[in-house]
Amino acid sequence: MLRLYLFISLMCLVETDADETCASFTKLSFHSAVVGTGLDVRLMFYTQNNRTCAQVINCTFLGNLNVTKRTTFIIHGFRPTGSPPVWMEDLVQGLLDVEDMNVIVVDWNRGATTVIYTHASGKTRAVAMVLKNFIDRMLGEGAALEDIYMIGVSLGAHIAGFVGKMYDGQLGRITGLDPAGPLFNGKPPEDRLDPGDAQFVDVIHSDTDALGYKEPLGNIDFYPNGGLDQPGCPKTIFGGMGYFKCDHQRSVYLYLSSLRKNCTVTAYPCDSYRDYRNGKCVTCGPSQGEPCPILGYYADNWKDRLREKDPPMTKAFFDTAEKEPYCMYHYFVDIISWNKNIRRGSITIKLRDKDGNTTESKINHEPATFQKYHQVSLLARFNQDLERVANISLVFSTGSVIGPKYKLRVLRMKLRSLAHPDRPQLCRYDLVLMENVETFFRPVLCSRLNM
Ligand SMILES: *[C@@H]1O[C@H](CO)[C@@H](O)[C@H](O)[C@H]1NC(C)=O
Ligand SMILES: *[C@@H]1O[C@H](CO)[C@@H](O)[C@H](O)[C@H]1NC(C)=O
Ligand SMILES: *[C@@H]1O[C@H](CO)[C@@H](O)[C@H](O)[C@H]1NC(C)=O
Ligand SMILES: *[C@@H]1O[C@H](CO)[C@@H](O)[C@H](O)[C@H]1NC(C)=O
Ligand SMILES: *[C@@H]1O[C@H](CO)[C@@H](O)[C@H](O)[C@H]1NC(C)=O
Ligand SMILES: *[C@@H]1O[C@H](CO)[C@@H](O)[C@H](O)[C@H]1NC(C)=O
Repeated sequence: MLRLYLFISLMCLVETDADETCASFTKLSFHSAVVGTGLDVRLMFYTQNNRTCAQVINCTFLGNLNVTKRTTFIIHGFRPTGSPPVWMEDLVQGLLDVEDMNVIVVDWNRGATTVIYTHASGKTRAVAMVLKNFIDRMLGEGAALEDIYMIGVSLGAHIAGFVGKMYDGQLGRITGLDPAGPLFNGKPPEDRLDPGDAQFVDVIHSDTDALGYKEPLGNIDFYPNGGLDQPGCPKTIFGGMGYFKCDHQRSVYLYLSSLRKNCTVTAYPCDSYRDYRNGKCVTCGPSQGEPCPILGYYADNWKDRLREKDPPMTKAFFDTAEKEPYCMYHYFVDIISWNKNIRRGSITIKLRDKDGNTTESKINHEPATFQKYHQVSLLARFNQDLERVANISLVFSTGSVIGPKYKLRVLRMKLRSLAHPDRPQLCRYDLVLMENVETFFRPVLCSRLNM
């Protein structure tokens, strides 16, 4: 009896505690999505002092908000099932880990939750108006527009753009994470996110062939893996729900990974993904060795350089691994061949270090053309950055399964790291690659004569 009593009072304690002090993101059911929801915007405020317990604030009640600090708004997108975004908690914690700022989650789940996308997209202007009223109040309390940062996901990216326009682009920064494409593609700048909406606008496009926006929308537009299909995402509908949202959500996970600093994802400014893959875009400034833009939270390190451009827009490409921390390490494989006739084919290269760590790169996006005594520079991307490569293997393939087997006569192969140009370059001289046969060798330091 006593135990039951204790249990009940404990339950009450837990319940009242949760109800009265800490707010949580609106949870809705699929039923709500089917019948549709009316708009209700809640602002949930977190700080380093209150990391897990959100305070609900609004334009009449600012709670413990210290407006002199930087304030980051996180704005989600369309919610076809009513559930809270799975990444929200990690994004809040990640931001608070890197800076003592205000984080405000813009919970417009009532409004975004509907199975009919046009109903959600039709509410984006109204959400922007709520944010405008709130920011006006903050400004009245002494906040500065340049300290306001908005991270908008999907439809949320356009909402951030609408808010930015109402302040004539004076907000500090907007990050668009795979801004929504459907109903926004091809719209004029006033009807979508655009580079004039904040002092710095950076965008990650990870699903340009389905839910995302294809064309550039910011001062810098990052296109991971070309912006289309992301590695590790289901390629067919048999992959379940992930098939619909994995590519789209990848933009959020890439951004999150930048907060964790396990490695830095470098991007290469380029006109097209194809040029990037062909190794045409590996320098990032007038002089060799100038740093290239980086993805995510710290992308604004490049702000001044990007805004100097006319127009102030840059597209940047890079490839990623399938999972966290997503980084890939770029190398050039320079091959000089001496076959009498031109050879076309692809190269697969494997690196091994003394400890047995292995990493592989298939350079097969399009056949390379090997011409007698000409150097071909192939861009290889590896998941691991092996510092001391002890053993290399190469496979040459023409891609045809029938017909004669070809040889590639290599005069010199050279491996050089893009991220670490100071590392010794590794070479192998005089080698014959039989088609589809893995050929191992121990590299040597390249000769100074650099033949
Ligand atoms: C944390 O949030 C709760 C709930 O809104 C609030 O009552 C409390 O004062 C906050 N604490 C601090 C240190 O900001
Ligand atoms: C703002 O929040 C306060 C405290 O939670 C609440 O009493 C008030 O009704 C809210 N005002 C509006 C306009 O929502
Ligand atoms: C508000 O933030 C500023 C800047 O971080 C700090 O100097 C100040 O002490 C804070 N005020 C309060 C009341 O915490
Ligand atoms: C990344 O770094 C975080 C700490 O910042 C650590 O907890 C996590 O395990 C790391 N992940 C990987 C894949 O290295
Ligand atoms: C290589 O392998 C060793 C031993 O297994 C490991 O400690 C090290 O972290 C690995 N290095 C890389 C770059 O993966
Ligand atoms: C390189 O590694 C492979 C696989 O471990 C091994 O079979 C081969 O003998 C090695 N070659 C040299 C030259 O060390």
